[in-house]
Amino acid sequence: MNFVDAVKDLAQSNGMIVPEDDRLLPAQRAEVNARSLALSDVMTRACDYYRQQLRGAESAVAYLKKRGLTGEIAARFGLGYAPEGWDGLRSVFSDYASPALVEAGLVIDKSDEDASSRKRYDRFRERIMFPIRNTKGQVIGFGGRILDQGEPKYLNSPETPLFQKGHELYGLFEARQAIRDAGYVLVTEGYMDVVALAQLGFPQVVATLGTACTSTHVQKLLRQTDHVVFSFDGDKAGRRAARRALDACLPHVNDNKVIKFLFLPVEHDPDSYIRELGADAFEVQVQDAMPLSQFFLKEVVGDGDLATAEGRARAQFDAKPLLQIMAPSSLRLQMVRGLAQLTQTTPSEIESLFELSQPVARARVAPPKSKRSAPVGLERQVMRILVAHPSLAFMLDESILDDAAKLAPDGAEMLTQLVSVSQEMGEQANFAALAERLRATGSDFDILIAEIAEQTETDFDVVKLELAGALRQISSQVLKVEMMRLAAGGLRDPADIARYREITLLQEEIRRQAEVEAAR
Ligand code: GTP
Ligand code: MN
Repeated sequence: MNFVDAVKDLAQSNGMIVPEDDRLLPAQRAEVNARSLALSDVMTRACDYYRQQLRGAESAVAYLKKRGLTGEIAARFGLGYAPEGWDGLRSVFSDYASPALVEAGLVIDKSDEDASSRKRYDRFRERIMFPIRNTKGQVIGFGGRILDQGEPKYLNSPETPLFQKGHELYGLFEARQAIRDAGYVLVTEGYMDVVALAQLGFPQVVATLGTACTSTHVQKLLRQTDHVVFSFDGDKAGRRAARRALDACLPHVNDNKVIKFLFLPVEHDPDSYIRELGADAFEVQVQDAMPLSQFFLKEVVGDGDLATAEGRARAQFDAKPLLQIMAPSSLRLQMVRGLAQLTQTTPSEIESLFELSQPVARARVAPPKSKRSAPVGLERQVMRILVAHPSLAFMLDESILDDAAKLAPDGAEMLTQLVSVSQEMGEQANFAALAERLRATGSDFDILIAEIAEQTETDFDVVKLELAGALRQISSQVLKVEMMRLAAGGLRDPADIARYREITLLQEEIRRQAEVEAAR
């Protein structure tokens, strides 16, 4: 994790919110944006080149055919080929010396000692190229597989400002619709598994990029679906990887998510398994995958001897940190029960020994990590104000709700619900009555309600100003995003230019309003 993400993560797990300071060096922000735009462009051009090279590369095409892939699937994943030779990319980039090529990880600069001869060369040569796309579909990195034998088998793009292995999942962009259709996502370990399984009737497959499964991966997956099946080789390395995945999942599981672990026979990965035993057999494996709660018990027991007090204590010792990072939930309770049974204890003994039963207020105030998609930042601020003062809901109209949804799609539904319930209650609306109603509709608002209940009274007029300010910031940020998009498009279309000007004026108006209000 980078520093900013680490701070945000820590803050969130302690029920705090890091304020998004928008005035923070806009120049820097613009520079970062411009740079990623440039990198993105470089990656796209390289990707197009590799794809085009594949057409003429007999050996590469033969290799893909041998692995059972059709041209259609190759096209869907944008597979390409980096031909032999040291500087194939020279034909794509007239400025082969450009720093952007190093930054994008497409070329390697030779160290200075031997600067006399060739100084810079292509990173990927004689390899099948798997473009890695982000969820917006932009190419952010590559994996390159050697044809047949050789070392290293896979070569990956280095980490760049666009590409962090611990954050990205190969195939997620391509699989999104299929994940929705299938109702689950299957997580594998290899590029080839993703492509081959898509070919064999399992398009809902993604892969980690040769790294352990991280918490960010899990968050990304759970944003797409409530049902995740991890597949691992049956060997030792596979079990270790599964354990890492378990650790990454625990902070995010809750009662409406299903996470399972599938262990294949030692000699197989999903690709080879299906080819040898067929899609139906694999489907059965997926259905029979081990639920997280069961894998958890298996892990903490390990090869310990539960017939001895020491063995049972050891299992509890190993289970403690795992249960502690879980948010309170029915699932956690079930896991505690399972552990209690195995270790001749009672669930409440375990809960008190592990200090799991947190005081109700604290448990509510700290947003459980599993609620990652809960609204943050501005949207959350707005919701807090509305829950405390529902009579202010009249200040929100359709258009601001639209803006909020654009800014933070995850929390949009909650906000809309909150506004409509509050507006229904009319001017008489107050916190207590609203809290009652929200509790009846479901528990999503529990955390907010608990927070507000603990809060001291604030002056109504101040709150009103605060809400107006937050709403203005939401509109302003949405406009800013649109502006950036227009600018990125090069502002060639007169309609774009007109809209750009319009936005400038709207932004100016928003700033003016803020000043007027501040002067009051
Ligand atoms: P095939 O042998 O083509 O079927 O590949 P696979 O997708 O089954 O890959 P494998 O199980 O060998 O490895 C799993 C993943 O680990 C790959 O998709 C890569 O992301 C990564 N990986 C494998 N070999 C290497 C390597 O030599 N170097 C690096 N950096 N990563 C590798
Ligand atoms: Mn394989």
